[in-house]
Amino acid sequence: MRKKILLTGVNGQVGYALKYQLSQYDVIALTRDQLDLTNTNNIRQVVRELKPDLIINPAAYTAVDKAESEPELAYAINGTAPQILAEEASKLNASIIHFSTDYVYDGTKKTAYIEVDEVNPVSVYGKSKLLGENAIRSVGLPHLILRTSWVYGTYGKNFLKTILRLAAERDSLKIVADQFGAPTSSHSIAEGVVYLLNVWQDNQENQSGVYHFTNTEYTSWHGFSCEIVTEYNRLSEVNGWPKLKANVDDILAISTEEYPTPAARPQNSKLDNTKLKSVFKLELPSWQQGLQQVIQNIQIAEK
Ligand SMILES: NC(=O)c1ccc[n+]([C@@H]2O[C@H](COP(=O)([O-])OP(=O)(O)OC[C@H]3O[C@@H](n4cnc5c(N)ncnc54)[C@H](OP(=O)(O)O)[C@@H]3O)[C@@H](O)[C@H]2O)c1
Repeated sequence: MRKKILLTGVNGQVGYALKYQLSQYDVIALTRDQLDLTNTNNIRQVVRELKPDLIINPAAYTAVDKAESEPELAYAINGTAPQILAEEASKLNASIIHFSTDYVYDGTKKTAYIEVDEVNPVSVYGKSKLLGENAIRSVGLPHLILRTSWVYGTYGKNFLKTILRLAAERDSLKIVADQFGAPTSSHSIAEGVVYLLNVWQDNQENQSGVYHFTNTEYTSWHGFSCEIVTEYNRLSEVNGWPKLKANVDDILAISTEEYPTPAARPQNSKLDNTKLKSVFKLELPSWQQGLQQVIQNIQIAEK
């Protein structure tokens, strides 16, 4: 029998990519209007009515800086809602795939984080996402918590699109060069989840748990920006796309201190994906490969 999947947050970057990748599956894809994660009664009612075998939950409060001034909302959507989803799924003997973040770490480790490293979020957003992780674990149903980082894609607001817009408008850009992590495309995430659906034996408790789930290799925001512009320029030569005003040499490296934000960010956001590879034989592409695919598609979509 085919699994019935309830997918949340389909107007988000990951939700949208998942909806597309899961088109061969029996998926009920819900927007915020159809499933409001601030409303616990609504969550319970929707899950009870739909009776899914699996819930995939990419919906989240993701406004990292704004979360500092509205923590209750962030805790409700990222902490309480996953708990209710998990409780209801558990009653149906269903399982859950949930997304979390590099921001559960404080970023002070010198090397890439592994899943058993101590968590210590330094922002409200990070704390709220950790609450959600812990809630799901405490319910005890079969679960995968996929910690990803620096998400961007063809759909939704993201860093890649901001850089392309700014590089088209300005002569130069100043970008933080002392935070390190893995830019991860929503497309790579969705492809990885589809793979997991085929290999995750959700009746095997020992596969449940937290997994780092990012494109491989690391860079800084500055390095990512340079690659975005380089890749755009390469494709624009071939395809005759409009030229950018700012080129790679015009992307200036600055420190975190020179770009203050309401929420603190971990300096080291590098997540080691070895566990994913050893348990599921899955490795997402490099961040550079992910970027090539997305830039190509952004231009194709906009032509
Ligand atoms: N973005 C990143 O850089 C990043 C990094 C690490 C981890 N993650 C995690 O990865 C997952 C996916 O992130 P993303 O980038 O796809 O996020 P996103 O683009 O911001 O999408 C979030 C989705 O959640 C929905 N949502 C927000 N509040 C809701 C509510 N009260 N009820 C129902 N839906 C609600 C939004 O609905 P609307 O469309 O109506 O606003 C949106 O569709 C999240 O768990 C996030 O924490 C993201």
